[in-house]
Amino acid sequence: MYLIQRSKATSLGFGLCLITLLGCDAQAPASSSADLTPQERQIWPQIDSAIARDEHQEAAIVQWLEQMTLEQKVGQMIQAELKQVTPEDVKQYHLGSILNGGGSFPNNDKLATIDDWLATADAFYHASMDTSGGGLAIPVMWGTDAVHGHNNVVGATLFPHNIGLGATHNPQLIRQIGAATAREVAVTGIDWVFAPTVATVRDDRWGRTYEGYSETPALIKQYAEQMTIGLQGSAHSSQLLDETRVVATAKHFIGDGGTLGGIDRGNNLSPEQELFDLHGQGYVSALSAGVQRVMASFNSWQGEKLHGSQYLLTEVLKNRMGFDGFVVGDWNGHAFVPGCSTKSCPQAINAGLDMFMAPDADWKELYHNTIQQVRAGDIPLQRIDDAVSRILRVKLRAGLFDKGAPSTRAVAGREEILGSPEHRAIARQAVRESLVLLKNKNALLPLDPKLNVLVAGDGADHIGKQSGGWTLSWQGTGNANSDFPGATSIFDGIESAVEAAGGSATLSPDARYEQRPDVAIVVFGEDPYAEGQGDVQTLEYQPDGHTDLALLKRLKAAGIPVISVFLSGRPLWVNKELNASDAFVAAWLPGSEGAGVADVLFRQADGQIHYDFVGKLTFSWPNQPHHTTLNDDDKTYQPLFAQDYGLSVKDQDTLTDNLAEVIDGAAESPTDQARSLFVSRALPPWQLLIGDTEYGQVPVNGNTVTIPQVETLTITAINKEVQEDARQVLWSGRSLGEVLLQGQANGHDLTDMLQKNGALSLELRIDSEPTDKVHVRMDCGSQCTGSLEIRETLLQLKPKQWLPFSIDLRCFAQAGADFTHITKPLVLTTRGELSLSFANVKLEPGLADRANYQCGGNTNSGIAAY
Ligand code: BGC
Ligand code: BGC
Repeated sequence: MYLIQRSKATSLGFGLCLITLLGCDAQAPASSSADLTPQERQIWPQIDSAIARDEHQEAAIVQWLEQMTLEQKVGQMIQAELKQVTPEDVKQYHLGSILNGGGSFPNNDKLATIDDWLATADAFYHASMDTSGGGLAIPVMWGTDAVHGHNNVVGATLFPHNIGLGATHNPQLIRQIGAATAREVAVTGIDWVFAPTVATVRDDRWGRTYEGYSETPALIKQYAEQMTIGLQGSAHSSQLLDETRVVATAKHFIGDGGTLGGIDRGNNLSPEQELFDLHGQGYVSALSAGVQRVMASFNSWQGEKLHGSQYLLTEVLKNRMGFDGFVVGDWNGHAFVPGCSTKSCPQAINAGLDMFMAPDADWKELYHNTIQQVRAGDIPLQRIDDAVSRILRVKLRAGLFDKGAPSTRAVAGREEILGSPEHRAIARQAVRESLVLLKNKNALLPLDPKLNVLVAGDGADHIGKQSGGWTLSWQGTGNANSDFPGATSIFDGIESAVEAAGGSATLSPDARYEQRPDVAIVVFGEDPYAEGQGDVQTLEYQPDGHTDLALLKRLKAAGIPVISVFLSGRPLWVNKELNASDAFVAAWLPGSEGAGVADVLFRQADGQIHYDFVGKLTFSWPNQPHHTTLNDDDKTYQPLFAQDYGLSVKDQDTLTDNLAEVIDGAAESPTDQARSLFVSRALPPWQLLIGDTEYGQVPVNGNTVTIPQVETLTITAINKEVQEDARQVLWSGRSLGEVLLQGQANGHDLTDMLQKNGALSLELRIDSEPTDKVHVRMDCGSQCTGSLEIRETLLQLKPKQWLPFSIDLRCFAQAGADFTHITKPLVLTTRGELSLSFANVKLEPGLADRANYQCGGNTNSGIAAY
């Protein structure tokens, strides 16, 4: 049965769709608009796509549909992930598409070569064209997240993330970047990219802030259009979807940047007019430029998941706006629609989803269930025909039936194009133009390149950090400079600029020096993250510890002029860091061409200024850490730096060194609140590590990490409520293995949590019982610890079930932990075999007396309620 969940307009549109069996087709728009109020009717305009209907293509589609079996049709509607699909599957199930997710490569090899990519693309293509098992030959289409260049491929040019491109205010350049990205993708034989993100970011706590160009819809409208044209080619030229271009996807429809609290995959509560005005503008221009695909979003609108919204997907996007390409789902996005799972979701198809993104191994079940649901009448065949028509239409427009095998296309395999000097030059220009100068006391910049320059900060020589998320791995973590052949770190650029002019540059991440430098450039900022793992609770930079600030202050105290180059995926509250700097540059996430930074920081050797700062903010910069939804159209707008701010070196800067460093009253009193240590990822200042007494420790970067050689334990990111929000740890029993959260070496004062009757709490699932003792510890330095043995308590938990689990903090204190300087708030060890999963680790005031583990090893019967 259909699930009908929302609004008058929804059920009505749906009813018509059922009755006429036509209303779901863009060719025959539902006439439900007759029943809308005049105001509702005006919200969503009809968009004329630059790519017009071609009657020959439409006739061919009708003919093919007549020849296709239901199995082949449903196969077209499924996109499986590289790790879970073989060419044989594509042939057998007639799959319409495959994708490689972030950090997914041919043969699971991060260093896969262009030939590997092409061979893989060819194998899938040939399988799709092989009709020996019956069916029609319909080329499979491969989609990838080329969101800042072809970022899953080693050696590709990595452009600044969209937040930086926004700051360039250069639509022409954005178009060139689209074209360069398309060429690099085409080199590897891939047809389709999941870009551009056209989100209007309204709360900068959102972990995907950097994927957006701006907080201002008018700018997004401009840039989304240019990126679409760059990727696909202009619809008014012969370059449209030629062999050097790829099909674009406007994502994530709709309202992803406007969720309450900036929570990824959260709920957007905008009234409908605002949904269009604020969050719909990127679609207006991308659709008119001819974007062929729209990705449904994970978020909800007014409580309803977009993947299940017949009103927004069908009535608004297809019928009223006139979109005739296809709607692809997001990564298992259908599974979150009420009543659905990864394996079954007729609701999404009925709502208007045309292709499931089904990355898990269970896509086959989804396929069989969908066929079954059509047979049972739960999904009208006409809806399937509409979806398949759309998919075929896009494949025709993309020329896939004519382009031949991926390796035979115009630029396929041309190594010199991937990371070419021309593309790197475009990226370097983008870096230069994206830098926003926020402070320049006493006209310190531009620098004379003949100086002796100290280059400090952990971002100075770290290409992974300067590139952010979606870089060779989903989260962008786990990369070394050697993973970026041809790229330059920010230090590399400074070094060559300075050395060419006769100065000197010394790299010293911790800013220690032997010879006193003339100036110091400190490159620091956020570590890479992607999606919900980047959601934060406050915009304060380094709320626990301000370690970079200490470094800045040390230099300042020594009288050395300090230039801060700040890497971040969002504007952050850095008043303290600004005060401690003489000049301050917001550099965003520049990507592989770090040399673009030095281009602007220094004069030429002859004293000329070659490149001035031209970047301007497209995001308002906060004056308080809780100013998370500061946007330029706010009534009470009091940013530190307004939208469009950005100095030139010629401007006289009057910013003081005395910006307010106190957080004003509206801010929470942190002690009454739980302090989170791990939410989807370890939250700064904590770091997640695994270790073995013999081998030592390794940081947990990436979704599966083990202790090399000995494999004492392995940790894997798993899904609990949302993707990769939990970790599963498997102890092999070979030797003593540990998983831990670690903070700064000098520790953190957590006495407030102890005094407030706090407990260490987490969500826990015992996957296989411990065969030996299990210890949980809190450490306070190398010789200071409080250790508890918890095997008995664990054995009393119901296995294979997520349960809240907590330990009274006083027990750690009694066992020896000194809460004035906790270095590791959680260490879990065993010599035996054990498998457990955990999520949401926090210190929670007031929970001590109800904690599962009470001092002396007593276990509270019954599970403590949160
Ligand atoms: C990302 C993928 C990634 C995956 C890891 C997804 O949300 O978009 O590209 O590989 O998570 O589980
Ligand atoms: C993300 C999308 C991405 C997709 C494929 C999802 O998790 O939300 O932006 O395109 O995965 O990797």
